Amino acid sequence: MSGVEIKSAREIDAMRVACQMAADTLLLVGERLRAGMTTEEINTFVHEDTLRRGAYPSPLNYHGFPKSVCTSVNEIVCHGIPSPTQKLMPGDIINVDVTTQYPARDGWHGDTSATFFIGEPAPQTRHVVEVARRSLELGIAQVREGARIGDIGAAIQEYAEGQGCGVVRDFVGHGIGRKFHTDPQVPHYGERNKGVRLKAGMIFTIEPMVNLGTWECDVDPKDKWTVRTRDRKLSAQFEHTILVTRDGCEILTQRSRPLMHSEVFGDPLVGV
Ligand code: MF3
Ligand code: CO
Ligand code: CO
Repeated sequence: MSGVEIKSAREIDAMRVACQMAADTLLLVGERLRAGMTTEEINTFVHEDTLRRGAYPSPLNYHGFPKSVCTSVNEIVCHGIPSPTQKLMPGDIINVDVTTQYPARDGWHGDTSATFFIGEPAPQTRHVVEVARRSLELGIAQVREGARIGDIGAAIQEYAEGQGCGVVRDFVGHGIGRKFHTDPQVPHYGERNKGVRLKAGMIFTIEPMVNLGTWECDVDPKDKWTVRTRDRKLSAQFEHTILVTRDGCEILTQRSRPLMHSEVFGDPLVGV
């Protein structure tokens, strides 16, 4: 017994709604990003767009997180806090991580993120973003009933390290449902044939954080949220919420059209 919840068809239907909202909000954010914009403006957009759907932005007040979305620029690995003094500059990358809770259908959460280019990226910048995007795609390709959690991390680690990148270990994918973070933990590194065996009806995120340099990172001692790469090199991330099925998986946060300012080489499992 793994202790990981198996969702019923009804529960999966409700989960799809929350996940599609998160996916739509992320799409709209991508279409609005511009050099000169502040991360606070992104926060305002996500907050209002989420409320407009009759939903709640899960990050807001989650363990004291002060904003409605995480905005992680350049060397920020995750949990970047939107700020009115942080302006996007040409050449920057930004991960926007949207999580939406939909109270009208039992309060399920949908969690998805992507990394976007602001202006023209330098070759190394393009590289780390593409490796993160492809890492998610390869992780997703491991998912089916009977596979094991370790298969996901092993596929990602092998690929990303082979591309000369570091894979973050301190933060992992997670089960998700009526709670934002639950079992199982889904590391983006590890060994094949280890860990929880996947069963149809399990739902979890895969969200590899891939660094241009070392995998090591540190939490900001002042705000206790912002995570930075130890060597201050770039970090990129993509995230989907995934349902395990008998013969594979369903990407619950699949987008209805490709993202703008991102994923120049393709969208995870869209048109691939
Ligand atoms: N969305 C993040 C994740 O993928 C978690 C953010 S927690 C917050 O798991 F409090 F920073 F919002
Ligand atoms: Co997540
Ligand atoms: Co997330």
